[in-house]
Amino acid sequence: MTDERGLGLTSGVLPQGLPGTMKVNARGHLEIGGVDTVKLAKRYKTPLYVFDEALIRQRCREYRTAFEKNYPKFSIAYAGKAFMTMAMVRIVEEEGLYLDVVSGGELYTALKAQFPPERIFFNGNNKSPDEIEMALRSGVGRIIVDSFDELDLIESMAGDLKDEKGNARRVPILLRVTPGVEAHTHHYIQTGREDSKFGFSIGAGSAMAAVMRVLASDRFDLKGIHCHIGSQLFDFEPFAITVKKMLDFRREVYRSTGYILHEVNFGGGLAAKYTEHDNPPSVGEFIQALTSKVVDVCRSTDMPLPHIAVEPGRSIIAEAGTTLYTVGTVKHIPGVRTYIAVDGGMTDNPRYALYQADYRALVANKATVPAEVHYAVAGKCCESGDMLIMDAVLPPVKPGDILAVLTTGAYCYSMASNYNRIPRPAAILVNGGVSEVIVERETYDDLVRKDRIPARLLAKKSVVLSYH
Ligand code: LLP
Repeated sequence: MTDERGLGLTSGVLPQGLPGTMKVNARGHLEIGGVDTVKLAKRYKTPLYVFDEALIRQRCREYRTAFEKNYPKFSIAYAGKAFMTMAMVRIVEEEGLYLDVVSGGELYTALKAQFPPERIFFNGNNKSPDEIEMALRSGVGRIIVDSFDELDLIESMAGDLKDEKGNARRVPILLRVTPGVEAHTHHYIQTGREDSKFGFSIGAGSAMAAVMRVLASDRFDLKGIHCHIGSQLFDFEPFAITVKKMLDFRREVYRSTGYILHEVNFGGGLAAKYTEHDNPPSVGEFIQALTSKVVDVCRSTDMPLPHIAVEPGRSIIAEAGTTLYTVGTVKHIPGVRTYIAVDGGMTDNPRYALYQADYRALVANKATVPAEVHYAVAGKCCESGDMLIMDAVLPPVKPGDILAVLTTGAYCYSMASNYNRIPRPAAILVNGGVSEVIVERETYDDLVRKDRIPARLLAKKSVVLSYH
């Protein structure tokens, strides 16, 4: 059996289309990056995020190759919000990508990992003065400006920026615009008046007003425009409409000012495959469709081709991540369902709790045993909504089994919390039979490290309550 990416599947009982280097070894265990996941669970404990380095690099290269084949000028910025650690920053850097950051913390992580600042895009709808200062001082490649207030702030802070010759240095920016297309997973809406906290509205005229405001200032180097219409998108149609709206706006700017916006950044959004039912376009198909739409619109409107930028997060990292858990309890409720509880949950993956996101799983130590029992996979938080999968079809599960939840690379570690004072798991990178820690597991000491007890609370005698 071979899946659509040409990967051989070892066994018919496994979910179809396993990502990356995942396979089943001779012991019947799930293997990733040439490493037995059951051994990983023993060695590093669970929960454990496991990242398939070869697949991360493959996805970065798919983006590059697709652009190289189809379009002359482009930048691909990995969206750090999906998953960012210093090791991930290094991989993205080595693969020649750019990096999209959205906070001082992400920017700090990137700079600490020696990511070249000129390849950093700084997004966000409410950057603080401290964050803007960090961006200006480090010399990020683009600040993607979201509001008139932010323009004022940057302008007031850019005053003393100088280039090597002592001339006032202009801040390279893009304007975040809302094209009036909002896309959700399986549908999209076009709205005349956009209801969004992000950016300048094209329809309501504020995008054009922002362009005028920027062009009138000698503090900005207006490189272009930016948008992001949604995430986990399967259809190309909302992107096609967005391309048209963005390029029409670019033409309108040219007509009324003579200024050509050189760069158009379309954000992220391409879907990942979470379950057998998800069949997103490949990176190659998506970029081919995007670039040919850009070429078509530019040709028909007689405008020069822009430099295209994209900011993929999920489509690069989601499928490269797998979370390993140990099953603690199995509880059968006759006539209702059987729950298995694992040693993690919404603290390491809040996506079911937040979005009712679907996942598939398999039992890492029973990967060749037929999957025919229905289970609800619960976490260990004191909250009924702390579920990971409502209906997972698995081999018969016992306490001590290792459950592997697939496609947890994006928006899991990055949205993890310490709810219930549960330490965050470790993350490891696997490749060519070797595993390396990229994030240490948090300890109980880490949990109390920032706690402070005011002296008056220590000095007081305790009141002991007795229960009789
Ligand atoms: N660029 C911008 C400006 C964005 O806002 C986002 C995602 C991206 C790029 C990356 O989009 P991607 O390629 O990953 O779809 N927490 C949610 C996802 C929120 C996405 C927010 N913005 C989730 O877990 O599904």
